[in-house]
Amino acid sequence: MNAPITAFSPQPNPEAQALGTASVPAGPYYHADWFADEREAVFRRSWLNIGHVSELAEPGDYVVRELEVLGASLIVTRGKDGALRAFHNVCPHRGTQLIDGPAGGSAARFSCRYHLWTFGLDGGLISAPDFDRFGLEKKDCGLKSVAVDQCGGLIFVNLDPRGAPPLRDWIGKELASGMDKTVVSRATHFSEYVYDIDANWKLTYDNFQENYHLRFIHSKSGAAGLGPDNPFGYPVRYGFHGMHRTQTIWSNPAPVVTPTQGFTFAKAARQQIEAGVDFGDNTKQYFALFPSLFVFDSPINPFTHMVYPISETKSRGVIRIYWIGEDDSASKRFAREYGLATTRDIHSEDRAVIEAGQRGLSSGALSHIHFQEQEVLCRHLMHNVAEQVAAYRAEKGA
Ligand code: FES
Repeated sequence: MNAPITAFSPQPNPEAQALGTASVPAGPYYHADWFADEREAVFRRSWLNIGHVSELAEPGDYVVRELEVLGASLIVTRGKDGALRAFHNVCPHRGTQLIDGPAGGSAARFSCRYHLWTFGLDGGLISAPDFDRFGLEKKDCGLKSVAVDQCGGLIFVNLDPRGAPPLRDWIGKELASGMDKTVVSRATHFSEYVYDIDANWKLTYDNFQENYHLRFIHSKSGAAGLGPDNPFGYPVRYGFHGMHRTQTIWSNPAPVVTPTQGFTFAKAARQQIEAGVDFGDNTKQYFALFPSLFVFDSPINPFTHMVYPISETKSRGVIRIYWIGEDDSASKRFAREYGLATTRDIHSEDRAVIEAGQRGLSSGALSHIHFQEQEVLCRHLMHNVAEQVAAYRAEKGA
């Protein structure tokens, strides 16, 4: 395993500099009209993470996931042939939702409660009572499919009505290859928590794209990530990959941790090393996939964080911390529970200030906001969202 990077000497980044230093319009963080166009331009046209392959490890496994931003409910299945498939959770007879979501489990078929049309894991119609009276062919009555694929152990769906590009092309081969080496890609278990927040999805997401706030909002909980050479705990490197981004997190060479933290961090790292994880160049690497997914690869508490918009000022976040193998001892169990509890504690410090930011922006007092050079990932996200929305509006106008 490569050593974490403890030196802090950030170099000028031409791609970051190319984004400029101009202030950024505040409207996209609270305007309903902008959000309506983001829904179509960004979320309907992007690959969105909705699960992990460990949830669909065996043939017959399925999950039902709600994508409120698109008004969609989706069923993702692992077929008898091992293939991953996704469908709208909508009966083709008269539209009834097949399964009340969110849900998951194992099944051989799905039956609609209304008139008992029954579908296989491949979405095909198996049977329907008195079907001869419809004048239809069964082959034309399957569940409506949705593009689905996986990368780095994560399951993505794409509802683009124009047709979805291949997932790995959309992520980019270099990033996709990096994600294939993460702990998340090999994980067999995860701990999860879900939070609702009264804030725009970009404002919520941006909080995790900059470390400028660490020393103020996390003055105690985040102190181990700050040091005299790097008092703000800034990352050592940023990367720009089309619409996506990476950052390499700086490691404090002399962190102050409690005995409990020391024990659990060591225990967590040992579990990954014993499982044969080679972190390579990914040590403490943060992948920020457009539009709203983070994948953080680390020997300690590797996690994903997906922010799902609900409205222009409401979002839902799903945070998952990943593990390889069973928690077959009390100390492993403790390390995993402690990791989740610690992450939630730190995150709870963020939520109040994010919501305060939304209240301020929604007041309309500001026409613009500002990003400094170490908030460049926030600038890059807004830049790409604005490009997508502008292209969509031009298409609509045409
Ligand atoms: Fe599903 Fe009729 S609506 S069987």
